[in-house]
Amino acid sequence: MSNKKHKKNSEYQKGQHLVLIGFMGSGKTSIGRSLSYKLKRAFYDTDKMIEDLEGVTISDIFAAKGEKYFRELETDVLREIREDRIPRIYSLGGGTPVSLQNQPLIKTIGTVVYLRLKPEEVWERLKGDTTRPLLQCEDPLSKIKNLMKLRAPAYERCADIIIDNGSKDRDEVISEILGELEKRGWEIPPESYLQSKSDITENKE
Ligand code: S3P
Repeated sequence: MSNKKHKKNSEYQKGQHLVLIGFMGSGKTSIGRSLSYKLKRAFYDTDKMIEDLEGVTISDIFAAKGEKYFRELETDVLREIREDRIPRIYSLGGGTPVSLQNQPLIKTIGTVVYLRLKPEEVWERLKGDTTRPLLQCEDPLSKIKNLMKLRAPAYERCADIIIDNGSKDRDEVISEILGELEKRGWEIPPESYLQSKSDITENKE
């Protein structure tokens, strides 16, 4: 599709949510939980929303009803989030931004942060993981590389802010995100609003 057909992010009427996107294992859940303390906003993981809705795990949904059905659920959840008027933090599944139907939805939901990792960094984090059905294959690293190549343009198209999350520690990533949000006019609650530092750093993915 030509670039002319894509609206720039600045042309979208943005909602008030903070939206985290990125490949599987990019730290969306963990960063989202930490940001929830910092911004005093509730955090929701759309995979978890789908699991709660269906009453089974993502792996079971893929196995019983297939990936296409799962992708339809992802779009339904995005539509639901678009109607949510209370500002929150949402982390999206790694494949959600790929669909051309989902991209305008994601952009209108709120400010989108893309947590970027290299394929090797993803592999380091997800070696041994059994919860991602797409990576239960003979050669997961090649699969990660191929998927990443296909998906990177979609992530970049949706993103307002891109953060390289491979070699930084979590506090560094959080400060970088908060700094970018401040530049865009977000009000960051003062430190005294925060719970203890250990609460922030306890959330591991
Ligand atoms: C997927 C990523 C997963 C989950 C499903 C499919 C993908 O979410 O939605 O397994 O297509 O990349 P995470 O990115 O939270 O692992």
